[in-house]
Order: sequence, then C-alpha cells, then structure tokens
Amino acid sequence: MFTTTRQHRTGDDTGGPEHEGPVVRVRDLECAYGDFRAVRGVSFDIAPGELFALLGTNGAGKTTTIEALEGFRRPVGGSVRLFGRDPRREQRALRGRVNAVLQESGTFADLTVAETVGLARRVHTRPRGTEEVLDRVGLADRAGVRVRQLSGGQKRRLDLALAVVTRPEVLLLDEPTTGMDPEARRSTWNLITDLAAEGVAILLTTHYLEEAERLADRLALMHRGRIEVEGRLAEVLAGWGDRITFRTPATAPAPPALPDSEVEAVEADGRRAVTYTVLEGDPVHRAHGAMAALTAWADRERVGLEELALHRASLEDVFLNVADGHEIPTPEGVSR
Ligand SMILES: Nc1ncnc2c1ncn2[C@@H]1O[C@H](COP(=O)(O)OP(=O)(O)OP(=O)(O)O)[C@@H](O)[C@H]1O
Ligand SMILES: [Mg+2]
Repeated sequence: MFTTTRQHRTGDDTGGPEHEGPVVRVRDLECAYGDFRAVRGVSFDIAPGELFALLGTNGAGKTTTIEALEGFRRPVGGSVRLFGRDPRREQRALRGRVNAVLQESGTFADLTVAETVGLARRVHTRPRGTEEVLDRVGLADRAGVRVRQLSGGQKRRLDLALAVVTRPEVLLLDEPTTGMDPEARRSTWNLITDLAAEGVAILLTTHYLEEAERLADRLALMHRGRIEVEGRLAEVLAGWGDRITFRTPATAPAPPALPDSEVEAVEADGRRAVTYTVLEGDPVHRAHGAMAALTAWADRERVGLEELALHRASLEDVFLNVADGHEIPTPEGVSR
C-alpha cells in the first residue's frame, strides 16, 4: 500500500494519546457484494506483538475482512477499528502504521526490485533502508532485476519487502507465502516471528495449516462468512483426539480396551487395521499413556504392531470438518 504523506505516530494529527489495548478490533463485521453477504458477523481482536491467523475455505471471506481493515471496503454491519480509528474515515492518521501484503499485488513490472522499494521508501518519513529490507526478505541478490523477471515466490517476497518498509505497527498479510519454496517460506516465517517479537500486531491468512500451527498465537477458522472455531491452537485441538493406528494378523488377540480411548478394528484380507482415538486426558501426555499401555499389551500377547503410527490431532482435522459443515467438537469457550 503506497502512501503519500508524512507518517505521524503521536500528537494532534493522530488525535491525541496513544491507543491502549488491542490495536485491531473487529466487531460483528458484515460485508456484502450486492445482495451477497460475504462476511456475516465476524469478531476478533489483535494485540501488539500478537499473531492472529485467519484460516478457512476458499471464498470464506478472509480477503474481504482484510479489505475492510484496510479501509478499501465499507462494512454493511458491525465495525473495524485500528488503534481505535475507522480505517475508511481516518486514513491519514493510520498511514504508515498499518501496512499489508495483499493477495493480488500491484507492483510495476518494468521497475527493478531496488527501484520498487525506493519508490515505497520515498513516500514515508522513517523508512527502512532498501538494503536492509531486501536482505530481510532474501532478495538482496535480485536488487537490479526487473519485477517482471521475478518468479512467483520472489514477487511474494517483494510484496513483503514493501509491507515492512514503513515499520508498520499492524501488518495485514493475505497469503504472504503462497508460491514460495520451502526454504523461502521458512525464512519468511522467521521474518514474521521477528516482527511479532518487535511488537507488530499481525493478521495472517494462509492455506498452509502448518504455517498457522507454527506462527499463530491465536487462530480462527472461517467458512461461508462466519468464524466457526477460534482460540489458541491447544484450545482448538482440545476436542480432537490423537489417533494411534497399526495392523495385526486377523488371528491375533482382539485389541484391548484402553482408558480414555475409543477403538475401531476393520478386518480385510486376513489383516486387522486398528485405530485408537485418544480423546480424554491431558493432551500433552495422553498419547504416551495410550501408547505405553498398547505396547505392554502387545509384548504380553506377543503381537507385532505393524506400521504402528501416532497421528497427533492437527488443524487439518478441524479444517476438514469445518469445510464439510460437520458439527465441531466444542471444548468450553472455543467453538461458536
Ligand atoms: N469483487 C467481488 N464481487 C463479488 N463477489 C466477490 C468479490 N470479491 C469476493 N467476492 C465473493 O465473496 C466471497 C468471499 O471472498 P473472499 O475473497 O473474501 O474469500 P477468501 O476467504 O479470501 O477466499 P480465498 O481463500 O480463496 O482467498 C466469495 O464468495 C467471493 O466469490
Ligand atoms: Mg482470499
């Protein structure tokens, strides 16, 4: 987002004292395209230094929510506030303090990478240096290359470079790592983590669930305009079981009942496929308890547990259920 005037942090131009509490506040947000309500009552807060991940199905309303936060889209209901301000009416006060990596980037193909960063620097009062910015996003060796010659992942890195040029206090990142190779994604994660540690409030959308699992302090899963699940990762996963799977010959003794677990066995072609779902108990230790009991049973009965595997509850389990429109397990205070 290029801006054209000086950046102010305090004083009369921004309306007085610094804002306290969450710097991003979304309340009952509703957005529509004509008659179609794309966002149907979304609420969340983001505090300084906090990373909030907005996940969800294609068309769930994530980009629309970000556009409302940028002031590009007028809500038809509810409100969005940044530092207590309305991003549509008080753009001037928010300039430089809020920046974004948009899903669709808008750079000039004929400029070089360094020229593009230079252009963004020129319109801000306290910009980071071009070298520093390109270094942070791993584009230092592409400084003289024209934007049109960048690969998809390199363009994404340039978008990120432009977003951090202004030293923003709020960063809105719409799928910032799409198209990046695994190494670039990891270095981008490091950059994002560093920015959060420096106190930046970050809203991140991503379809890479591992990215959210690693980075997010809190996350929300959206589907068809609504937040279906929200909380810290451990809270979101609390209602979901860890699964232990293995095979035995069909002639082996039947798998034992274990405390806090459900067991399912399917027989085919002389083999028995067994799945335990460990639901109850402390999520950090419960898999160990179930696994220890199982291996003790297997030793006693002299049964080999073939292809033994442990699948921890993951965001993917939750995501797929939300996408299917299934009922979500509701650990207290998490699902809505
Ligand atoms: N300019 C537009 N005009 C009409 N409908 C739109 C427009 N932009 C988005 N929509 C619709 O609004 C809904 C939400 O779109 P949005 O882009 O916010 O979803 P998203 O969660 O960002 O999806 P994705 O994960 O695919 O990026 C979709 O049904 C989409 O088709
Ligand atoms: Mg989107």
